[in-house]
Amino acid sequence: MVTRSLVVSAVLGLSWHTWAFSTAAAKATATSSAAAPAFTYDNTSFLLHGEPYIIVGGQMDAQRIPPAYWRDRLAKARAMGLNTIFSYVYWNLLEPEQGVWKMDEESNDIAKYFQLAQEEGLHVVLRPGPYICGEREWGGFPYWLSTIPDLVVRSYNEPYLNLSQIYLERLAEILRPLQVTEGGPLLMVQVENEFGSYNDSDHPYTEALRDILRANFDVPLYTNDGTVNWTLAGGSVPGVLAETDGSPVDGFAARDEFITDPSMLGPLLDGEYYTYNPDTWGVDNPHYTTDGDAAAVAQIVDDLEYVLSGNNSISFYMFHGGTNFALGNGALWKNYTAAFTTSYDYGAPLGEDGRTTELYFTLRDTIQKYIADPLPAPPTNVPLLSIPSVTLSAQEALFDLSFTKTTAASPLTMEELGQNYGFVLYEHQVTETAEGLLSPGDRARDRVIVYVNGVRSGVIDSTYEYPNNISVSLVPGDNLRLLVENLGRVDYWSLESGLANHILDPYKGIVGNVTVGTSVLQDWVISSIPLDQAPSPALSNSSAAVGAGPIFYVGSFTLGSNFTHASQLDTFIAVPGGVKGIIWVNGFNLGRYWTIGPQQSLYLPGTVLRAGQSNEIVVLELEPDSNTLTARGEAERVWGNNPDPDYGE
Ligand SMILES: *[C@@H]1O[C@H](CO)[C@@H](O)[C@H](O)[C@H]1NC(C)=O
Ligand SMILES: *[C@@H]1O[C@H](CO)[C@@H](O)[C@H](O)[C@H]1NC(C)=O
Ligand SMILES: *[C@@H]1O[C@H](CO)[C@@H](O)[C@H](O)[C@H]1NC(C)=O
Ligand SMILES: *[C@@H]1O[C@H](CO)[C@@H](O)[C@H](O)[C@H]1NC(C)=O
Ligand SMILES: *[C@@H]1O[C@H](CO)[C@@H](O)[C@H](O)[C@H]1NC(C)=O
Ligand SMILES: *[C@@H]1O[C@H](CO)[C@@H](O)[C@H](O)[C@H]1NC(C)=O
Ligand SMILES: *[C@@H]1O[C@H](CO)[C@@H](O)[C@H](O)[C@H]1NC(C)=O
Ligand SMILES: *[C@@H]1O[C@H](CO)[C@@H](O)[C@H](O)[C@H]1NC(C)=O
Ligand SMILES: *[C@@H]1O[C@H](CO)[C@@H](O)[C@H](O)[C@H]1NC(C)=O
Ligand SMILES: *[C@@H]1O[C@H](CO)[C@@H](O)[C@H](O)[C@H]1NC(C)=O
Repeated sequence: MVTRSLVVSAVLGLSWHTWAFSTAAAKATATSSAAAPAFTYDNTSFLLHGEPYIIVGGQMDAQRIPPAYWRDRLAKARAMGLNTIFSYVYWNLLEPEQGVWKMDEESNDIAKYFQLAQEEGLHVVLRPGPYICGEREWGGFPYWLSTIPDLVVRSYNEPYLNLSQIYLERLAEILRPLQVTEGGPLLMVQVENEFGSYNDSDHPYTEALRDILRANFDVPLYTNDGTVNWTLAGGSVPGVLAETDGSPVDGFAARDEFITDPSMLGPLLDGEYYTYNPDTWGVDNPHYTTDGDAAAVAQIVDDLEYVLSGNNSISFYMFHGGTNFALGNGALWKNYTAAFTTSYDYGAPLGEDGRTTELYFTLRDTIQKYIADPLPAPPTNVPLLSIPSVTLSAQEALFDLSFTKTTAASPLTMEELGQNYGFVLYEHQVTETAEGLLSPGDRARDRVIVYVNGVRSGVIDSTYEYPNNISVSLVPGDNLRLLVENLGRVDYWSLESGLANHILDPYKGIVGNVTVGTSVLQDWVISSIPLDQAPSPALSNSSAAVGAGPIFYVGSFTLGSNFTHASQLDTFIAVPGGVKGIIWVNGFNLGRYWTIGPQQSLYLPGTVLRAGQSNEIVVLELEPDSNTLTARGEAERVWGNNPDPDYGE
């Protein structure tokens, strides 16, 4: 299974000034000569085949990158001077429904990703969760865990641990042959993820996870936690190397001070050194980047120098963030929903489009100071494609399509409908007069578009701490529709936040009853609209009428054929006249757009496009006001914010 190509040794003729930079090639000889364990550590150093090994790592999750670009991104990591890739694994994509495994899908082929990493001269560190945070939908948990009676995630709970065990065993089956003990690139496996900030006292849970991982992997385990005593105390596990994240200065000091159990001690690793920040949707929210921020860059360089000059280890979070394709983003609850954008650019050294940034070269120069041999030449950036305006015509009203419908006296949640992501439409035929403030269950989960007799009355949007108050006046015969969007389940909650723990309350759609004034509305027709399949390209040509709710727009463009590599077709798709919606290109879901920003265009990987042929764009616009929209491919990415047409008066 592990292919060792000659290319590997050619790429890897490097060694560090002060410490061995072990390579696949070096390893091949070392394994035969020494009895030293493949990868271990003493009090101060990681040891690869007995030689000190400094991890110069970077996080890059396979499942946020088009598989056809995995090798490109890995090679660029290597050329920046990284020797190790850290990757989370998103359980919800591997097992989207209980017992339904999608391990074989190209985008979930973690083993392939690790093999490519090895071929590119990199080691890997596995961060399998089951909870990974990562600004992913519900921290990577599959939605269906929320439907299992008595199951409590992230705790010593039998139903949860049983299912976690099944997942981890399935994953290990595939990844075990790629451990360094077997000649593969896998060095270490993380236990849970920053558990100490979630619960300071559930040690039986993390110990159970440790035991599951120990039974399935031969390489060392580690934990990664915040840099204060209570998080380290809560997250560290006996017998497992305890590491920190955030500032390496604070983290290493905290590790030295607060971790005293010798079975948790070893070399220092900053397991998540933040290169910047993820973005959240919001009229006032910026795109985070170090571009033009000399002070931020200087701090990063200082921190990196601090780590490397001390012979310690680091992993950049993120080296390359990638994209939350297909509604994969998570959210935070802060008395309002802070939903992460489709882009997970993160201000990382390698941009969302896989192009190197200034930060990339700054970090490369810094790392190079610690390496005797010159790093491989970084690739030049391939220009992005510009696609002139494409006219999209209104083709089909969302509410005219047929979805799975359920009738119920009171609303059912998205999870009760057996639905993972997307939208739920709740429809009520009014039989009794009702007037007053409309309350969509216990709160908006997360964004509710209200229609009376097909006319939009307003939006109740939980991304605001004080969502709009929508009052309606209903008389018998009226039709009320509530289109409820899951903006991403909450992926992180901290014990000290003082806020409700939405990790334990991930439910979407409507929870509780809908009331108008003092009336409880009973009898609903509920449609599941997961949009997990691309809408059919053969949408009927009914020229949907504007004003009747969301509309699918369709258009196409033909590309020339003089392209030699998919990256020449990479672009950013903007729908300048759109308010909020989803874009598919050739059936591939690029994710959500939203005029409020900061993201104003969606990354379209060239791998999705067909050179020399016609390419189809489908846009679901939630708030259409015209028979046509335009889309264009931008060769120059623009970030920014616009006012929210749906908030306030
Ligand atoms: C490693 O650290 C432990 C605990 O701090 C100490 O007892 C032991 O002597 C150290 N080992 C070496 C080789 O320094
Ligand atoms: C968990 O797994 C064990 C061992 O397979 C089994 O005996 C037990 O019934 C399971 N518990 C639940 C709640 O699924
Ligand atoms: C933390 O874990 C303990 C032990 O399982 C549990 O009693 C407690 O409710 C948990 N706390 C939170 C906030 O989940
Ligand atoms: C850190 O926390 C642990 C566990 O709560 C406690 O025993 C210890 O005294 C604390 N250490 C310091 C230095 O505060
Ligand atoms: C780092 O390792 C090198 C080589 O072993 C050694 O010469 C140097 O003193 C070490 N530096 C520190 C700060 O430990
Ligand atoms: C959130 O709301 C609660 C209850 O109204 C309040 O106690 C808390 O301070 C608020 N927290 C933030 C971060 O606004
Ligand atoms: C909705 O009403 C509440 C309670 O009266 C108020 O605090 C809030 O500001 C209102 N929201 C808006 C957007 O006006
Ligand atoms: C919803 O309303 C019905 C009828 O008034 C009531 O029986 C039911 O308990 C309510 N459900 C909730 C969650 O309040
Ligand atoms: C849809 O109708 C328009 C106007 O009648 C026509 O130009 C277009 O070709 C039709 N598209 C499809 C896919 O049938
Ligand atoms: C393809 O041909 C067009 C038209 O001649 C030209 O503008 C474009 O630069 C070419 N693209 C590539 C990648 O060569």
